[in-house]
Amino acid sequence: MKVLMVNGSSNLKGCTFTALTEVGKALEKQGIEYEIFQLGAKPIRDCIGCGKCQEGKCIFNDDDVNKFVEMAQEADGFVFGSPVYYAHPSGRLLSFLDRAFYCSVSAQKNPFHFKPSAAVLSARRAGTTASFDVINKYFTISMMPIVAASYWNMVHGNSSEEVLQDLEGLQTMRNIGANMAWMLKNIACGKEHGIARPEVDRSQRTNFIR
Ligand SMILES: Cc1cc2nc3c(=O)[nH]c(=O)nc-3n(C[C@H](O)[C@H](O)[C@H](O)COP(=O)(O)O)c2cc1C
Repeated sequence: MKVLMVNGSSNLKGCTFTALTEVGKALEKQGIEYEIFQLGAKPIRDCIGCGKCQEGKCIFNDDDVNKFVEMAQEADGFVFGSPVYYAHPSGRLLSFLDRAFYCSVSAQKNPFHFKPSAAVLSARRAGTTASFDVINKYFTISMMPIVAASYWNMVHGNSSEEVLQDLEGLQTMRNIGANMAWMLKNIACGKEHGIARPEVDRSQRTNFIR
């Protein structure tokens, strides 16, 4: 089993990376692999709402969104991490997620449905719960069970060294990893015993509300 994580910071070894690595260590302890997908500092296009992705994949091929969506098909769970920028997740992560999730809506096999997910935030000081809320909404609209934690899914610090001093934050990250492993094993066990995924009913689509 494998968990695919996304570092929504351009800082490859910064605070968000440090938090994700702590989740990863706890996963490995439970025999679950993980990989951190780095968004890096390259430009990431925003969704332009052209809708062409509904015929296959996103029309933009000059960044890693399509590559990530392919990798996501093979993943069993996800952790999306972001630094807090002005009390929201990084713009690059939001552009990335808008496109990755929107282009998966009419995929033959949605890469996100029914796969447990967690959001992880890093901040110097504030804006974490508002940012947490934003990322969680990608999960709830995509039938992804949310992996819970022992406290808010955040670490505090302005550098990796500071994050390593946030002992409670790191403890929360380890608990997220352990809970994710537990959920993945339960889902695998259910599958072995014939518990099928629920059918997704999309027959109603009411675009207007009166
Ligand atoms: C543009 C920008 C805006 C930021 N806004 C906030 C903020 O609203 N609240 C906060 O606590 N930290 C804020 N920070 C600090 C980062 O969230 C914090 O240093 C984070 O842990 C960096 O993570 P990283 O090393 O993974 O990039 C901001 C940093 C930048 C560059």
